[in-house]
Amino acid sequence: MSATPEWVMVGGEGPESYNQNSYYQRALLEAAKEKMNEAISSKLSLDMISDRFSVADFGCATGPNTFVAVQNIIDAVEDKYRKETGQNPADNIEFQVLFNDFTTNDFNTLFQSLPQGRRYYSAGVPGSFFERVLPKQSFHIGVINYAFHFTSKIPKGITDRDSPSWNRDMHCTGFNEAVKKAYLDQYSADTKNLLDARAEELVPGGLMLLFGSCLRDGVKMSETAKGIVLDIVGDSLNDLAQQGVIEQDKVDSFSTPLYFAEEGEIRQIIKENGKFTIEAFEDIVHSKGEFTIDPKILAVSCRASFGSFLSAHFGGEVITKAFELIEAKARQELPRFHNAKPGMQYLIVLRKN
Ligand SMILES: C[S@@+](CC[C@H](N)C(=O)[O-])C[C@H]1O[C@@H](n2cnc3c(N)ncnc32)[C@H](O)[C@@H]1O
Repeated sequence: MSATPEWVMVGGEGPESYNQNSYYQRALLEAAKEKMNEAISSKLSLDMISDRFSVADFGCATGPNTFVAVQNIIDAVEDKYRKETGQNPADNIEFQVLFNDFTTNDFNTLFQSLPQGRRYYSAGVPGSFFERVLPKQSFHIGVINYAFHFTSKIPKGITDRDSPSWNRDMHCTGFNEAVKKAYLDQYSADTKNLLDARAEELVPGGLMLLFGSCLRDGVKMSETAKGIVLDIVGDSLNDLAQQGVIEQDKVDSFSTPLYFAEEGEIRQIIKENGKFTIEAFEDIVHSKGEFTIDPKILAVSCRASFGSFLSAHFGGEVITKAFELIEAKARQELPRFHNAKPGMQYLIVLRKN
């Protein structure tokens, strides 16, 4: 099996870019802001806020959400400092922000759109967050927004027709026990590597703030709106194969390096890893609900997130056709979305042990 391509977002600032189509991911940062402020106020020790304070965003993409994430953190740290010392943070603290993503991420768009008037210095940190990407003890607060559901590769057997864990339906409906186990094993191993790496890079007492989506315990991905979206993508690819636009073999050997874990699985992985204490695991009510169910918006935002990954497997020329089908199918499937079981959006606050 060939190596899994890096799953980057569609670059630039054009109408199909991630930069212009990531409101959904941003809404969680806004909805969870109060809880995040409380966590920084109560879990970060005041003596960590001195001279130089570093914030690192892992899986930052091309903006603008990353700027919202890091600014919210800086505001909360400054607020705590101001309240507890009576001093102006601008007189005493310099902030540094470390932006991490794959080397193939569009860092040019990111750096060209850095907010005017920001009060921090910036640096890019290229490389996979499943490995060490920074020196020991180099940041105080780390953040991950909507990137804690990736695996480093598609698990063994998933794309192999002769394997019991062959996942014919791309991800969801055909997610049998063998497929689930293969994904969960891969996700657990990768997430433990991610936690090990961050534990080395964080200063003692530092925090990791994880924002993202998971499954409520006992709910299957295929029963949720996100699962329905994945099924629609898979069905559309199958239709294109039946129309002779792409080869059926290509569809049968396609899968994603994504795993939306159950809450209990995430807790278990963090506990087994042992490098962090879970200070909070908040169930956040997201203003955009489970997922936008406007078929047009859904297809465009899906294209901004999935487009590059699909192009790497199927070739760029079929992508427009694929997303036209995805939009049409989403329209037909509207009743299914209305009956979907709720997923869960979270803010997890981890403190380094
Ligand atoms: C859905 S986007 C979220 C982007 C951004 N955090 C936001 O809130 O808009 C997921 C990001 O994670 C990045 N990513 C996925 N796997 C990664 C890895 N192993 N190392 C670094 N970045 C990764 C992708 O390139 C992408 O930019």
